[in-house]
Amino acid sequence: MNVILLGPPGAGKGTQAKRLVERFGLAHVSTGDILRAAVRDGSKLGREAEGYMDRGELVPDELVVDIIRERIDAPDCRRGFVLDGFPRTVPQAEALEKMLAAAGARIDSVVALDVADEVVVARNTSRRSCPTCGAAYHLVSAPPKTGGLCDRDGTRLVQRPDDQPEQIRRRMAEYRTKTEPLKAYYRGRGRLHELDGSGSPDEVAAQLARIVSG
Ligand code: AP5
Repeated sequence: MNVILLGPPGAGKGTQAKRLVERFGLAHVSTGDILRAAVRDGSKLGREAEGYMDRGELVPDELVVDIIRERIDAPDCRRGFVLDGFPRTVPQAEALEKMLAAAGARIDSVVALDVADEVVVARNTSRRSCPTCGAAYHLVSAPPKTGGLCDRDGTRLVQRPDDQPEQIRRRMAEYRTKTEPLKAYYRGRGRLHELDGSGSPDEVAAQLARIVSG
């Protein structure tokens, strides 16, 4: 089972990808997490991507396509994967299609999580993340057990640099112009499912599981 989760920033792609991983034993492939880890490590990739990410812009296609080519070749992806945050442009989708065709694989479902703009802003501004392990929290819907500290490793939680109002607006604009056209791309290939992402994480997860189980 190979699944793509589409949706604006804060739609719940990461939250729902983790549910699919737990339920179906898929590999979680998040380009945002891979890029943030590269920035934390100070690698060449991280140094190239950091400025784009901090401004709320997409990083260039060739950087993320190379990440995905290497990642989906890893052994854990053979039993199926969920792509969270990739593809985000039509050229990325075309590159993915070619990569998978060469490996005799394909995408089974593309699920677009739809949430209203005000929900996007509220979810992103209240998100807190662990700079050590990358775990995400929400001050209201998914708070840490001990104020301000990561449940897993006790690190003080921080706000992502791109979760400031100006960067959230830019990420939403990038989504509209560059990523939303992917809905038509996958609709034309008979793969697209649209899902209201505004319910609780459990409600959305239950509907998503029904969709991907087909
Ligand atoms: P990325 O990390 O992918 O960011 P994003 O798409 O903006 O998505 P988010 O991580 O903000 O949100 P999400 O949809 O995963 O929601 P989440 O589950 O966290 O990318 C970051 C940057 O990396 C990009 O801007 C770009 O620069 C670069 N990049 C990455 N991939 C790229 C690519 N393919 N091409 C080019 N550049 C790329 O939830 C958000 C919050 O809401 C959390 O606090 C969560 O607890 C809460 N929440 C989730 N679901 C619910 C719910 N149902 N009810 C209430 N609260 C909820």
